[in-house]
Amino acid sequence: MRWILIWIQITVVIALDASKLFDFWTDIFRPLPRSPREGFVPDYTPNNLEEFDFIVIGAGSAGCILANRLSEISEWKVLLIEGGGNENFFSDVPIFAPFLSTTPMNWGYSSEPEQRACRDLRGNVCFLPRGKVLGGSSVLNFLIYQRGHPDDYDDWAKMGNQGWSYSEILPYFKKSENIRISDLKNSSYHGRGGYLDIDYAPYKSPLEVLFRKAGEELGYKWRDPNGEHVIGFSKPQATMRNGRRCSTSKAFLEPIRYRRNLKVTKNSIVQKIMIDPITKTAIGVEFNKGRIRRQVMTRREIILAAGTIGSAQLLMVSGVGPEEHLIEVGIKPVMNLPVGYNLQDHVTFSGNAFLVNDSSLCVNDKTAASPISAAQYLAGGGPLTLPGGAAGLAFSRTRFASRDHSATRPDIELVMGAGSLAGDMLGILRTLLGVTDKWFWQVYGSLPPQVRQASFAINPVLIRPRSVGRLKIRTGNFSDHPVLKMNYFDDITDLHALVEGVRLIQKVVNTRAFQQYGTRLHDVPFPGCQGYPFDSDEYWQCAIMQTSITIDHQVGTCKMAPAGDPSGVVSPRLQVYGIRGLRVADASVMPRIPAAHTHAPVMMIAEKAADIIKQDWGYPIM
Ligand SMILES: Cc1cc2nc3c(=O)[nH]c(=O)nc-3n(C[C@H](O)[C@H](O)[C@H](O)COP(=O)(O)OP(=O)(O)OC[C@H]3O[C@@H](n4cnc5c(N)ncnc54)[C@H](O)[C@@H]3O)c2cc1C
Ligand SMILES: *[C@@H]1O[C@H](CO)[C@@H](O)[C@H](O)[C@H]1NC(C)=O
Ligand SMILES: *[C@@H]1O[C@H](CO)[C@@H](O)[C@H](O)[C@H]1NC(C)=O
Ligand SMILES: *[C@@H]1O[C@H](CO)[C@@H](O)[C@H](O)[C@H]1NC(C)=O
Repeated sequence: MRWILIWIQITVVIALDASKLFDFWTDIFRPLPRSPREGFVPDYTPNNLEEFDFIVIGAGSAGCILANRLSEISEWKVLLIEGGGNENFFSDVPIFAPFLSTTPMNWGYSSEPEQRACRDLRGNVCFLPRGKVLGGSSVLNFLIYQRGHPDDYDDWAKMGNQGWSYSEILPYFKKSENIRISDLKNSSYHGRGGYLDIDYAPYKSPLEVLFRKAGEELGYKWRDPNGEHVIGFSKPQATMRNGRRCSTSKAFLEPIRYRRNLKVTKNSIVQKIMIDPITKTAIGVEFNKGRIRRQVMTRREIILAAGTIGSAQLLMVSGVGPEEHLIEVGIKPVMNLPVGYNLQDHVTFSGNAFLVNDSSLCVNDKTAASPISAAQYLAGGGPLTLPGGAAGLAFSRTRFASRDHSATRPDIELVMGAGSLAGDMLGILRTLLGVTDKWFWQVYGSLPPQVRQASFAINPVLIRPRSVGRLKIRTGNFSDHPVLKMNYFDDITDLHALVEGVRLIQKVVNTRAFQQYGTRLHDVPFPGCQGYPFDSDEYWQCAIMQTSITIDHQVGTCKMAPAGDPSGVVSPRLQVYGIRGLRVADASVMPRIPAAHTHAPVMMIAEKAADIIKQDWGYPIM
């Protein structure tokens, strides 16, 4: 058994590495059946000083949509610049999502040592994966499609961001969408015929059935959290096509890969945006492809879609940022703006495992690596289609939810995984979390292997955090990773709210539904927390500070705010204040993180941004 697993691991790693070098190699690793819409996006290398109407930086969740929508205007010549290469067979497999963060498809950022989070992870540092591949983080992500509560967007509008209230942005969620879930096809909240397929995993986990029953026992409805009510229990909706990942590059780029006015340059890392210091106009972009540095020029605009980390960093290395900080690192300021502040994220507590007396309920390494699962996957189903391994989502309110908010607005989310850290034979989850082998064996080593395989997880996610972090740059060189201070649990209420999440999970597993299988929390205390009585609030606070990790929802470093608001980097029309011909359209513009997984909100922002740009240039919107 073990040598088979090792062999699979080696093959995967080789394939992922090689895929960076050869398109044909990833083509071999991409299985049939393929829809005619899909196929490799040709790589184009621009000539030095070549001109484009629009240059989009970053082919991530937002960038692929922007490139598609802007090139709908046939007289606009559009260039899309991406630092990574192609996705491949393995990145398509939904349950392998956690694994992708350990490959070169991840930029590999990490935080500064944290005070109250990632305490027992390597060096108190939290890993912050970001996609470096065509499709960006939509290739690394866990596929979950979740939009948030209407008030999240109404709050943006109340801050003065005209045009961003829920009723104004709902059409943009629907515009992208091709809902494949039959029960929801007639819902007024969902779209049909868009580029992006939204579906349930074809595999029904036995745990999903228990989760639904447990929710009902506790008085929660089973429902569509992207519909009228968010609070409740549900099966995760996913960016998925026939059981495979539907990234934004697959959805929005591949079907239009031969559009003549759109060019895509891959493996091209932007070093700097060229800004004329006198006219304060963005005139071009400098990037490295292989060893060669090139410049491309714009006739109209540059659209920055390099993500919360990349966009903030690129602005600053190009002279747009807090003046005193830029001077500190030796950059000549062009425009003084609060870039890098307002860094917000969602953390989840992920060290727990629940044990059941029937391993067929769970999907751990043994099931995931079995040839049967592989065969089922090739036929379009089976446990490998679970999005990032998730089999259930729930939204609820803790006693820390703001009283000023509507009672329909959640502040805690539960994500049920069909497997757990205890079942991590191959060490993939350990690597992702950053927990050391020593920690793992101390907590889970006492369990026999077959017991570890019969385990699953329910993790609480802090979806309305109060703590805010900050991104700074180290130098003017884009290759130097920025300084990321996340400040998780800086506001102690965040920690208390997450403990409430643990308590809610305990209620879920104590229902009749879960007790049918003798479900119990593995109760070996975490090293370093043994000083607190097991299961006390203090114990959980300690455990949370040890192994809470990000669910990779960083947003906010190029905050959208109305003119006159000193915290704003971009206007509600996404123009960088004080610079002509430069917009930002990605996760970084969010003024406040929505109580949702951020992929759907980012895609909405990109759809709306494309319409704003068309309007501003006098074109009709579609
Ligand atoms: C591991 C992981 C799991 C996640 N799980 C979920 C989930 O289940 N559900 C959900 O809703 N959200 C999830 N998210 C979050 C979600 O995927 C992101 O919020 C979203 O993809 C961000 O989109 P973006 O366009 O802002 O940035 P990205 O998608 O990261 O795109 C930025 C792009 O710019 C490129 N780039 C950056 N700098 C440069 C440069 N200098 N030159 C050239 N190119 C550059 C990058 O390579 C990348 O392709 C997850 C994220 C991660 C990383
Ligand atoms: C959706 O609406 C159409 C037309 O109104 C109807 O024919 C169809 O049965 C409905 N489908 C579902 C799943 O409700
Ligand atoms: C930027 O940093 C990289 C990696 O450290 C280095 O190879 C490169 O030469 C640096 N570029 C400049 C302009 O200093
Ligand atoms: C699992 O535990 C429950 C509750 O203790 C018990 O009723 C059931 O028979 C057990 N099932 C197996 C397969 O051991």
